[in-house]
Amino acid sequence: MSDAAPRPNENMGEPFPRIDARLKVTGQAPYPADAPIANLAYGTFAVSSIARGKINAIDIEPAKAVPGVLAVFTHREMAGQLEHPKFGNAAASSIAPLDTTDILHDGQPLALVIAETFEASQEAAQAIRVDYAAEQPSATFDAQGTETVAAKEASEQFEEDVAAGDFEAAFAAAPVTIDQRYSTPTQHHNPIELFSTTAVWDGDGLTVHEPSQNVTGWKVELAHQLRMEPEKVRIVSRYIGGAFGSKGPMTSRTAIVAWAAKKVGRPVRCVVSREQSCMTQTYRAETRHHIRMGADRDGRITAFAHEGWEVTSRPDPYVVGGTSTTGRMYDYGSVLTKVSIVKADRNTPGYMRSPPETPYVYALENAMDEMAVALNMDPVEFRRVNDTQVEPIGKKPFSSRSLMTCYDQAAEAFGWKERNAAVGSMRDGDWLIGMGCATAIYPTNVAPCTVRLRLNADGGLRLQCGSHEIGTGVRTIAAQMASERLGIPMDKIEVEMGDSSLPPAPVSGGSVSTASVCSAVIKGCASIRGKLFSAVVSADGPLKGAEPATLDMKDGAITSSDGRSMPMKEAFVAMKTGVIEDYAEFAPDGATPEAVSKLYGGQSEMKGGEKGEKVKYAFGAEFVEVRINTRTREVRVPRIVGAFAAGRIMNTRTARSQLMGGMIWGISSALHEVTEIDPRAARYVNRDLQDYLVPVNADIRDLQVILVPEVDMDVNPAGVKGLGELGNVGTAAAIASAVYHATGKRIRDLPIRLETLL
Ligand code: MOS
Repeated sequence: MSDAAPRPNENMGEPFPRIDARLKVTGQAPYPADAPIANLAYGTFAVSSIARGKINAIDIEPAKAVPGVLAVFTHREMAGQLEHPKFGNAAASSIAPLDTTDILHDGQPLALVIAETFEASQEAAQAIRVDYAAEQPSATFDAQGTETVAAKEASEQFEEDVAAGDFEAAFAAAPVTIDQRYSTPTQHHNPIELFSTTAVWDGDGLTVHEPSQNVTGWKVELAHQLRMEPEKVRIVSRYIGGAFGSKGPMTSRTAIVAWAAKKVGRPVRCVVSREQSCMTQTYRAETRHHIRMGADRDGRITAFAHEGWEVTSRPDPYVVGGTSTTGRMYDYGSVLTKVSIVKADRNTPGYMRSPPETPYVYALENAMDEMAVALNMDPVEFRRVNDTQVEPIGKKPFSSRSLMTCYDQAAEAFGWKERNAAVGSMRDGDWLIGMGCATAIYPTNVAPCTVRLRLNADGGLRLQCGSHEIGTGVRTIAAQMASERLGIPMDKIEVEMGDSSLPPAPVSGGSVSTASVCSAVIKGCASIRGKLFSAVVSADGPLKGAEPATLDMKDGAITSSDGRSMPMKEAFVAMKTGVIEDYAEFAPDGATPEAVSKLYGGQSEMKGGEKGEKVKYAFGAEFVEVRINTRTREVRVPRIVGAFAAGRIMNTRTARSQLMGGMIWGISSALHEVTEIDPRAARYVNRDLQDYLVPVNADIRDLQVILVPEVDMDVNPAGVKGLGELGNVGTAAAIASAVYHATGKRIRDLPIRLETLL
């Protein structure tokens, strides 16, 4: 691999190593399930082995007989004890297990055992006997008993089926058309850190240690379910071992464990097995797509229609609906889209890295490659012909769009001009070689955020923000922004995050954190600078009488543009203070006046993307080489190059890591990942990391990330476009394109496996 930490280019920050890196690699970072708690009891859930039906009877006596068992809770004890989760806010699902005898999915929690030891709780959970009235479940598309509904009617999460012009007429008139169907499978996040809840009561106050991407949202939602005041609840989540959306919404387990802890009068820790996680956590929904595209012979797209279908649970209208992005991707003459959801006997799906774009852009970009082939055009030139600075739905300009620069830089680094466009023409011994490319895109979101800064006269800074270090480097990046604005070194900055008692930050989802946290830090630092500057210009000293606008903070001093300077320490003396503390609230352009109070109420008002006067997206281009063995048909990806433009890059090391991880995940979704479902039982079959395939080091060879300079101050005060969810968009389509180039086989259903290439 090349370029471990790309040298910063224009508008890019230093590749500062993560400030928590050493703690993480030496095992000293305290993950929530590591929290040292005295007198802990342990909880294990017993879960349903049917996907649809009712509990006739549940026998907990064998569980109670296990030595060390303190209590067993079922619907008999718990019905009516908790408020139902509010789906659509911070709760993963409205399903309220242990409140009912109804069974809505395989693996639904039916009982919680509390015991002196983890082992005893497990043994007892397995001893519980359930008599079911089972019904035939419907697992997925085409199963009898599923129900298809339009997303626009069924779901508040879905805003609109975007459209422009007269698609049907344009499609009918187009000289070149394609009309194809694509699909993507169920996938599970499988973060290395298991899901866990540790609930500790202190009188009527509750502290929950649990990996979370949304501590403030969870505080409010948990208080709702437990019928408490939010101020009595605290969520602590300082380190997270993989999240990717799976730890964004809170599952029903958290409140049940907290309720049980109160009941037994002991702190309770419940670490969920990987197998149970697959059934009770969220996952990426299975999707289907129908794309119709028409173009002129010169390659100009005149008609684009994208219909999508997504599987969800019976009660929850969860939907991602990526047509808002695919409908704006190119300069289509006309657009028609429609998203539907299919209700099946499954647990509710949820956000998984780039939730709308991963499946929907896969379908679009695979179709783009098919159209390029139909037109006999180079796929890069086909994108160039249809590139645009104005999106076709609302005719609004992009705040910035460096898509073709990304294509050109990635194509150059990849050696695209060496590609012989004829299908099956490139070969190395037993290996067919294919080369393909696709577009990456992700909406640039930003949300309200608050921060507290405390700067000492000696230059030490404490930065407090209830955001979450989910592995992105946001702690480090927040410190870098403060270091730059206040002219103090990184090692003098201490950052606290991951605790709902800190000033609230938005859910760490939607690639929103760097932009939102940095915008709040800029605001807080501006206030501290203002206080210091007004003190030094009026006090006796070298900066007396200077214009505050000419002042800056650099290297522990306050400097003026005419070359005068004063140590920061003396500025504190001039202010007659030892510490400056500042609390700052940032709300993005277009936010409602209540946006910050809503943030305290656990709701993140996201702005950006297609909202606003300009539409805001980050772009990239990915090129892959695949090799397919002529005898075994195994598929390898020896080379992948991605070039990405995402506004200001705060740290080229962490940016590269995010994009690299995304590209690897893209390879994974193209070639490896699928949650296998037994349709008879509506059950996930590969519920462990032995059978759920993900790439290992040997699968990833030469991977190159190019950071393309881009300046965009329309997006937010930090000029940052989130990129955590950019890298895995488009990768699978680039691989499908390369597989076609190597073999002449167009694979439209993921994953692409050996058996699909026979
Ligand atoms: Mo991301 S799937 O928005 O946590």
